[in-house]
This record gives sequence, structure tokens and C-alpha cells, in this order.
Amino acid sequence: MNFILIAFSLLIVNLLAQSNQRPSQKKFVSEAVEKTIERISEKMKDNKLKYTFINSFPNTLDTTVTNYDPSIPDAFVITGDITAMWLRDSTNQLWTYMEFVNQDSKLQNLVKGAINRQVNQVLIDPYANAFNYQKKSSEWSNDNTTRCFLGVNAHAMSQHLHERKFEIDSLVAVLRLAVGYYKETKDASIIDFKYLKAVQRILRTFKDQQADQTEQFATFRFPYTFQRNARSTDTVINGIGEPVKRTGLLRTFFRASDDSTVHQFNIPENAMASAILKQTAEMLSEANLSWSLRKAADPLIQEAFALSSEIKDAIYKYGIKDGAFVYEVDGMGKQVFMDDSNQPSLLSLPIYGFIEIDDPLLSVQPIPIIFVGTAAKGIGGPHIGANYIWPMAIVTQGLTTNDKQEIRECLRMLVTTTGGKWFMHESFFKDNPSSFTRSWFAWANGLFGELVLKIDKEYPELLEENYA
Ligand SMILES: *[C@@H]1O[C@H](CO)[C@@H](O)[C@H](O)[C@H]1NC(C)=O
Ligand SMILES: *[C@@H]1O[C@H](CO)[C@@H](O)[C@H](O)[C@H]1NC(C)=O
Repeated sequence: MNFILIAFSLLIVNLLAQSNQRPSQKKFVSEAVEKTIERISEKMKDNKLKYTFINSFPNTLDTTVTNYDPSIPDAFVITGDITAMWLRDSTNQLWTYMEFVNQDSKLQNLVKGAINRQVNQVLIDPYANAFNYQKKSSEWSNDNTTRCFLGVNAHAMSQHLHERKFEIDSLVAVLRLAVGYYKETKDASIIDFKYLKAVQRILRTFKDQQADQTEQFATFRFPYTFQRNARSTDTVINGIGEPVKRTGLLRTFFRASDDSTVHQFNIPENAMASAILKQTAEMLSEANLSWSLRKAADPLIQEAFALSSEIKDAIYKYGIKDGAFVYEVDGMGKQVFMDDSNQPSLLSLPIYGFIEIDDPLLSVQPIPIIFVGTAAKGIGGPHIGANYIWPMAIVTQGLTTNDKQEIRECLRMLVTTTGGKWFMHESFFKDNPSSFTRSWFAWANGLFGELVLKIDKEYPELLEENYA
């Protein structure tokens, strides 16, 4: 009798220790992804590594593809614990699986569906960062955000939008998803007139945020304003931000963390824009388009190449101090020395192909906000605040180094700081990872998966080690 009880409790303990937390009802199942989970997890001896990978890598497919219509195709991909689709997050969430689209036509169609959805979203409002599936009110409905329409600043928050924070990288994310998809598949069917219209709208928006503000100030007509009755990182001074000089750089009101900028020329945001605009122009040049699409695409190609190099030149002119990139500038001498935990950060720039990972301009880091605790050492930022380290920043560090020992240390910190949940979080307390923010953050989960895929290709032996 006792023996049976003991055996039974051992079984329970054993099941808990295994901790496969994947839902039984999965939103989307990809055969190629499932095979990869099986192949890679088999090698893993450390349970923390194994189950964090098993749970995190498929998290976007398992839980966030809330609406998918394969016939259009159309895909609405939520960020996780908020039921809205972020342009930035959805691109990154699907990026994790991009290398499998040629092995899995269902997965390929899903990515196409997300591209279609994003194109529609940009055409609804290029200044928004997050969208509702259908019209509904959001917790940010009362934000005071305007667009200049027929010479008047008109209220611009609409029910299609979850939030209307303008950040360059939201629009860049839309370009990047199409570029990544095309690069993998060479499928030019995503490039239709609607897509080209979205590219045109993105270029137009960027140029509006590159323009000299003198006339806007004189008439008080701004293409975009934003104010919220909230803490300083969630609102914009006077609705338009501190003044900047025309430099060729694009103004961004918010950072990738959705925090407002100190100076609107954010260097990582601009660098990512420069790199992806160029890649978009290259894709449009290379793609086999019909005569009429070609005619519509050619002027956009010229514009995108020109804007890309104008931004790049300005980064090298205004965005460097003492041999290193700085984080934000105003073009008149003021600079912010830091790096943030979210992507795009300075550290992440090699991921977008703006620079190589051994670029000397990254060798002297401009004082990232590093917190050192008993659990880990890593970058945090103003979004959550002091002493909270972001797993995403540790993954970024691992993705942008070839140093095996550094990658091993990143992997160790990541799998020992899940707070017993076997998932990535937005941030955790430096001395106690069971104090964390965001229990369901699909992008960070996918990024961890990407790091494991990289390690599997470059240093597979690290997957067989134990991490404590
Ligand atoms: C809303 O923002 C606009 C533009 O910054 C500003 O002119 C207006 O006074 C604001 N309205 C309120 C109610 O704060
Ligand atoms: C380009 O597309 C046309 C029409 O779809 C096709 O006939 C042609 O073979 C394609 N050319 C190349 C180089 O793929």
C-alpha cells in the first residue's frame, strides 16, 4: 500500500519536474516546427534548458495566432497577455519560424496572412503601434493624439487602434516581415498594389518626420501629436517633444519599449530603418513583377535607396561620440548615452545587417543600463525600471557574439531565471527571478528559441551541458 503511494507521488513529482507547459489546444501547429522541437530537445540533458525551449520556442504558434483565415490569407497575431497585435511584436514573433517556411506551406501561408494584415493596418493609420482585431474601444481610447487633416489638428484615436504611439520601428517591422519572407521564398505574390501603397505611405510618414519643423511650429500644424495623462515615459512633452534640427534622421516619439524618447533622433531606430529600407529596395528591384507593378515600384525603389543612405550618412555624422554609437541625439549637440533592453537597441544592430558584430563602433558600449545581481547580470531600462533585467537583452547579447563562453553564459542566465515557469519574461528582479513582469510575452519566448537554433548550428555541444 505504502509502496503504491510512494510510487504515485514520485510519478507526480516526476511529471512536475518535466514541466511541459504547452497547451493541449494549440492555435496553430506546424509540422516543421514540431520536428525541430523533437530533434533539438532530444539532445538536451538539462531539464531547465529542455523545457524552457519546448515551451518557449513554439509559444507564438501555440497561443497567439488568435484569428487566422487561410483563404485570404489573413492572420491576427496578439502579443501575448494583451489581446492586441503590435506591428513590431508580430513581425518578430513570426521571424522565429521564418527559416521553416519552405518546408511547411501552411506556415508560409500564415506569414503571408500576417503580411496582409500588417499592410491593412499601415493603411488604416501609419502612426499606430498596436491594433485591435475588429473595432472596439481600448484602454488608451482617451489618449490625446492628433493628425493634421485639411489644415486642422484632428483627434486621431480610432477604434481600430489599440494604441497610437509613433515609433519608427513599427513601420520598419512591416517592411522587414515582407523582406524576410521574400528572401526565404522568392515568392513575389506578396508585392501587389496594396503592398506598394503601404510602402509609399511608410516613406511619406518617414519624410514627414524628417522635415524641418519651423513651418510646423509657425502654423502649429503637426502631422502627429501625442499626449497621455501619465508618467513621463508614457507621454510626449507639449505633444510634439523637445525640438530637433533637420539632420536627415527620422524623429521617433517613442522607443521600441513604447517609452517616449528624450531626443527624437533615436540612433538604433534610425539604423534599423536605414538597413531595412535598403533591403526593401533590393527586394523590389529583384522581384519578378508584372509590367504595371514594376512601373509603380520603380519610383519607390529610388526613394527607399535615397532615404536609406541619407539616414545612414546622418547617423555617422550625428550619432557617434568618442568612437562609439550613442543612443539618442537632437542634432544640435545633445546626446543620450545609454542602450535600452528592447530591440532595436544598439547591441541588436548587427541582427538587422546595419553593421557587423565586430564593428568597433559597438566595442565601446555607451553605458548600457546594466544591473548586476545574484541571479544574473544584464541590461534593463526605464520601461520597468531599476534592478529588473530583461531576458530579451541577454538573448540579444547571445545572438550578437561568436564567443562560445559568452553564449554559454547567456544560456545559463536565461534558463536559470525563469522563476520556475519555464518561459521567458519581460524582466526579472536581479536577485530573485520569481519576481518578474509579463507572464506571457510571446516575442521574448520566440527570441529564446532563435538563440537555441543558432547554438544548434554553431555550438551544438552547448545544448548537451548542464546549467546551474
Ligand atoms: C490635445 O493635443 C493638442 C496638440 O498637442 C493640443 O493642442 C490640445 O490642447 C490637447 N487637448 C487637450 C484636451 O489636452
Ligand atoms: C516572371 O513572371 C512571368 C509571369 O508570371 C513569367 O512568365 C516569367 O517566366 C517570370 N520570369 C522569371 C525570370 O522568373
